[in-house]
Amino acid sequence: MEEKLNAILAETLEKIKGSADLKSLDDVRVGVLGRKGSLTLVLRSLGELAPEERGRMGKKANEVKKQIETSLDERTSALSEAGISELLKKDWIDVTLNAPGTTRRPAAGHIHPISRLQYEIEDIFTSMGFQILDGPEAETEHYNFEALNIPKHHPARDMQDTFWTEDGNLLRTHTSAIQVRGMEKVRPPFRVVGPGRVFRYETTDASHENTFYQVEGMMVDRDISVSNLIFFMKQLLREIFKKDVKIRLRPGFFPFVEPGFELDINCLICGGSGCPVCKQSGWVELLPCGLVHPNVLRSGGIDPDEWSGFAFGLGLNRLIMMRYGINDIRHFLSGDVRFVYQF
Ligand code: PHE
Repeated sequence: MEEKLNAILAETLEKIKGSADLKSLDDVRVGVLGRKGSLTLVLRSLGELAPEERGRMGKKANEVKKQIETSLDERTSALSEAGISELLKKDWIDVTLNAPGTTRRPAAGHIHPISRLQYEIEDIFTSMGFQILDGPEAETEHYNFEALNIPKHHPARDMQDTFWTEDGNLLRTHTSAIQVRGMEKVRPPFRVVGPGRVFRYETTDASHENTFYQVEGMMVDRDISVSNLIFFMKQLLREIFKKDVKIRLRPGFFPFVEPGFELDINCLICGGSGCPVCKQSGWVELLPCGLVHPNVLRSGGIDPDEWSGFAFGLGLNRLIMMRYGINDIRHFLSGDVRFVYQF
């Protein structure tokens, strides 16, 4: 029996060494220690031995069993470690690598300087009690012209060359269309601003674009006068340029305001002494504005005997060009990210 035990031990240790994976190792274990395993059968037959033999053989058999178990354990962990490192070798990800399909870190987006200024202006006006309104870029004649005191065939229509659609609508030529829509939505007293993209059928050059951006503003209350207009415009410019800006009003004609003005600011490039940007005048035209024409209030269902208001149309492109010294308006829509990334 002792020989048999030694043979089982030797054979099993050999098999354990030779098993290449956990599955065949388990087969070895079952073949030796299972219910009908070779060692199990020997252990079971111990009872047939003479008592003095039984003790010795029992001890021997237990030692063999222990050795086999130890060897099985070692091989199991060796094989599973090997399995893991095998897995690690062929199935791993480099978390420092780029996303699939990219060759570089994806670039973060960048806010266009026009949007940036628009948000800034929205904040300034919101803090002064204005609400922000929106309107469509494709408009009807009513909102863009008629309700603004510009009837058909009025020469003022020529001031704003218009993109017409085939069905007789148009691309809005100014954000003033938003103030007409505003009067339908809110009742006086109110303060609204309407930022947006506007279109003119124009030949482009360094200072003209067919597509640009404005912020319309309108305040309606009792007894609104030019001094209210000046106060809010100065406040706006102080916030935008972070300092007091000298302004002047010149008469300007727009059918939807009376009186109408061109608001000029002291040239910020030369400080007023004269330079190419202000054409040596010391002043830069920035902000058309005025007191809302009674006909406009009427077309918005507001009684001009009870209410009055001011309105203005701030051009964003010009303002940014002043702020950053940009010399060509066409940069804004060029789509060249090198332009955008400078701001
Ligand atoms: N809508 C005018 C324009 O774009 C500007 C303007 C707005 C003038 C409001 C006066 C009052 O030319």
